[in-house]
Order: sequence, then structure tokens, then C-alpha cells
Amino acid sequence: MCGIIAAASNRNVGKLLVQGLHKMEYRGYDSAGIALHQKDQIAHLRTLGKVKLLEEKMIAEKPKSKLGIAHTRWATHGEPSEENAHPHKSNERVYIVHNGIIENYLDLKEFLKDEGYSFSSQTDSELIAHLLEYFLSKGNSMVDSMYLTKEKLDGAYAIAAIDRENDQNIVIARSKSPLLIGIGTDEFLAASDPLAIGQLTNEFIFLEDGDVAELTSESYTIFDDTKQKVSREITHIDISNQATSKGEYKHFMEKEIYEQPDAILNTIDGRVGGDDVLENIFGLGSSDIFQKVKRVQIVACGTSLHAGRVAANWFSAISELPTQIDYASEYRYRNPHVDEDSLLVTISQSGETADTLAALRYAKEKDYLSTLCICNVPTSSLARESEYSIFTNAGPEIGVASTKAFTTQLAALMLLALSLAKSRNRNPKLRKRIITALRSLPDTVQETLKLKDEILEIAPEIASKDNALFLGRGIFYPIAKEGALKLKEISYIHAEAYPAGELKHGPLALIDEEMPVIALAPESEIAEKLVSNLEEVKARGGTLYVFSDPSISMDLKSGRLINMPKCDFLLTPIIYTIPLQILSYEVALLRGTDIDQPRNLAKSVTVE
Ligand code: AGP
Repeated sequence: MCGIIAAASNRNVGKLLVQGLHKMEYRGYDSAGIALHQKDQIAHLRTLGKVKLLEEKMIAEKPKSKLGIAHTRWATHGEPSEENAHPHKSNERVYIVHNGIIENYLDLKEFLKDEGYSFSSQTDSELIAHLLEYFLSKGNSMVDSMYLTKEKLDGAYAIAAIDRENDQNIVIARSKSPLLIGIGTDEFLAASDPLAIGQLTNEFIFLEDGDVAELTSESYTIFDDTKQKVSREITHIDISNQATSKGEYKHFMEKEIYEQPDAILNTIDGRVGGDDVLENIFGLGSSDIFQKVKRVQIVACGTSLHAGRVAANWFSAISELPTQIDYASEYRYRNPHVDEDSLLVTISQSGETADTLAALRYAKEKDYLSTLCICNVPTSSLARESEYSIFTNAGPEIGVASTKAFTTQLAALMLLALSLAKSRNRNPKLRKRIITALRSLPDTVQETLKLKDEILEIAPEIASKDNALFLGRGIFYPIAKEGALKLKEISYIHAEAYPAGELKHGPLALIDEEMPVIALAPESEIAEKLVSNLEEVKARGGTLYVFSDPSISMDLKSGRLINMPKCDFLLTPIIYTIPLQILSYEVALLRGTDIDQPRNLAKSVTVE
């Protein structure tokens, strides 16, 4: 999703701004642009497509500047094009970059047209440049013009703006879209993502909603929603180069798949002790609150929602709690009834997903006992706005397709199931059994990664097809859904998931030799039933690829049976996820798609 970077420095900033855009490429974008202050004029360069093209333009034109703003755009209003790319400008004077959506843009456009402004893009963002110019031209300062502009805007925004008549200052503003200041050496920076400027500083200030700030190369000043000067906490984050580079791997997704043993270890580390989960690992007082919980409501999107679907089974089996689960984008609109003593749980890798944040904000107006988030980014809006939280500690996930974030979310959700059970005095023997299994989980994941060679043999068969079906039952149905999502988002093969028992109620009609069927068959009390479901596929000429426990015997006519490592049943969903990730990756590699930045997708979806 769109990325903003801005810099006020004593050195040439063109290169560092473009490097920052590169660091945000993982978020997903379709065009890029930069505006660089050059005393009496502003160099304005934009390209459709990759940041590399903008970089080439910069090398050709060699603009020099100590003050600038840059942007990667992910189209919402208006097609991907150079005209719609940011920065947008007004009267060759004001240049802005914007993340978010301006909801009342049609009304504001009419107002500005009446004031004589004309529009050169189809975006909602361009009007911000015109509004700022409108107020500046009436003699207001940059900061005052930003406040006057803010008064008119409805929606979500992070904005950075420069004025041709002021070569010292950048003004930035935040409302519902992430924005932070970076304290550099002889320079101040702003960005929507700490990764963009992590090479330049490890000191960050996360702006709050309503804040406006002014940056020069010497200083920064922050004003709150009421225009009072405020000081905000400085957060130290060390974003090492190693965490944000591919190293020996071809893609970030590949690297992130193979990082999972360490990532899961980091999720569990320091949170279990002896035979049980430690107290208050979700924040001070969480263990007491958990005693009162009678019901759980989960909201999340995409892969994070799949993690929630697995966890709903765990909350029932381990914590003995009923759980309701909703797509975050739907939750607010179904007028949800909140039962007494319900705990709201949000799950998000980024912690900035607009639908999930909106669901949390909506829920905070309701009668929830408390709110808790499972998140990978401790500085995210979700983490800051939830009463309790646990961080998955997976390290930066750059590939758009979520891998290590998912398995670490599952590990964290298992810790939540155990903590709820402990506070409610439920299932001590089961808790002990799971703690033992959790401790050996990183090793089991490591062993599972060795299945790569077998998966390489089946990948060409899947890569040559246009469709695929994924089957799983019970706690494996969400894993089948996650497998289908992974395959479709990075290889563009149409894939669907079904609980295997549902096949005969419709999807069986799709089965022929062109429909690969990927099934998850762990040892379980319904293993025999699953095998019967798979026989139905076999009888109709379907090709089966079955990931199964060695105890399951099946005579396949075609396809392949791949034996999975042994693991405690309740943790097997984590193990069975791994081969599906590797399979999607290898299939996408064969199909030559843009694996880390699949078409039309964004890593952090900051619009509703
Ligand atoms: C999965 O591979 C996707 N990247 C997507 O479904 C993602 O999980 C979803 O957009 C939610 O993101 P979040 O976890 O950052 O909230």
C-alpha cells in the first residue's frame, strides 16, 4: 500500500529518498514519484511501474536537493498512471504526498473548482495540494495552512508537503494512517513505515492522530490536534540490514519460509516456564482479566483470519470458551451483539490494516470486557490502541504473502488459549502436554522444511494447471484455506478450499484430470472419513496430492502421498502449513510471477 518518505537534511537527499522507496516496495504499489526542492524551483519526477524506473530517471536528470518528499502509490481513486502518481502539486508551488482516502473529495473538488483550481489527476489526493496552496496564498504559514486543510478533510491521511517558497521546511500531518518522524544525524526524516528510514536512524517518533509536525534539517516541532506544541516519546528500534535484505535467498518469501523455526522460537521464548505458560504475558493484569472471560470474539483479515479460525478450535478445546469469528471488513456492519464478559481479539501482522483497526475502534465503543491484539509490529496502531497485546517477534515480514507471520500468530494464539485455560483453571494435563510439544515445535518445523525436495517434484504438475482444490477437515480446514490463498495470491492459479466432507455437495462436479486436489490428512479421529472423501476424488479421475501422517494408507492412482513429521495433534496445523507455503512458492517460481510483490496486492492494506 502507498508509502511516504520525506527528508530535510544538510546533504543531498535524492538518493536516500529513493532508497527509502525501495525499502517500502514490499508494501505493494503501482507507481512512484519524488519532489525535490531546488531553491527557486521543484524537481518533480514520476513513473508508472517500479521504483527502479524512477531511479533511472533520477540518474538521467541528476536533481540535487536537501529537502524532498517521495511516494509509492497503490491505486484507489484513479487508475495506475504517471498523472495519478504522487507527489501532486498545486500552481507549481505546493507539492504533497498522501496515504489514505479522503472521503469527502467530491465536495472538496467542487469547492476548489469554484475557487479556480483545475485538476490534472483522477485522485482524491490532489485536492490536498490545492487546499494547502489556497490557504498559503491567503498569507497563512505552512503549519496553519495544514490545520486549515485538516479542518476540511474527512477520511484517513498521512501527508507530507513542501512549498516552493520555503526551502527549509517540510510539514507533515497524520489522521488514521501511520506516520512517524526519524531522528537522523544532521537531518530529520518522516515516513509511513520505519523500514523506509531504518538505515538512517534507530530513533523514531510515532505521531498520534491529529498531529501536525514541522521538520527542518536542524529540528522538529510537533503540534497536537488542538495546535498545542507537544513532545512525543522517542522509540528506539534497531532495524538491521540483515532483517531487511534477502541474503542468500531469491525472494523475501523464500527467506521468510525458512526463518520459521527461529521465528516460532522467538514467539515462545520467555513466555513458557516449567509445565505451563507464564503469568501476564499479554500485559500486566491480563491473567486476572482472563479469569472473567466467558466468550471470545476474533476479528482479522486474510491470512490472519485463517489463524483466528484455527485458534477458535483451540479456545474451545483447551480454554473451554465459545468463540465467534468475523472478517474485520464485515464485523461492524452486522450490528454485532456483544455478550457479557466477551474478550475482543484482533490478529494482524502489520497492525495497520484499516479494516481490523476500524473493527477495534468500533468494538471499543461496545461493552467488551477487554481488547487484545496478536501483532508483529509493536509500534503499530493496533498494538497502541489495544488494552492487551502479544507480539509475535517474527522480525520484519517483507514478502506480501504472509508465511512466518502466520505460523507465529498460531504460536501466539496457542499461548493465548493456554493462558485463558490457566486463568480459568481448565485442563492442566492438556496444558502440560501442549507446553512439551511447543518446546519441540521449532525442531519439528525445521524437519518439515526438508520436504522441499519432494515438493519440487510435484510443483511442475500444479504449475501447469489453471485451478486447484485444497481439502482439509476440522482444524485443518483453515489450513486448506490458507494453502489456497497462498497459491492464488502468488501464482495466480485459481484455488479454493473445502472441508472434505462438503465435496459431494457440489464441488465434486469440478473433478477431472485437470483439477489437482491437495489434501491434508493428519492422523485424527476423522482420518477414515477423510480417506473416504479422497476416494470419491480418485474414483472421478482427480489427481491427489496428499500430505499425511505415515499411519494413513492410501493407494493413489496418480499424484503423490507425502509423509509428514509427527507432532502433537493440536499443533499439527502449524506443521501442515509449511509444505503448502513451499509448494506455492515453487509453483510461482516456475510460473515466473512477481513473488514478493504480486500484482494488485499490498502488504499493509491501510484503506478500508
Ligand atoms: C496474506 O498472504 C496476505 N498478505 C493478506 O491476506 C494479509 O494477511 C491481510 O491483508 C491481513 O494483513 P495483516 O495481518 O497485516 O492485518
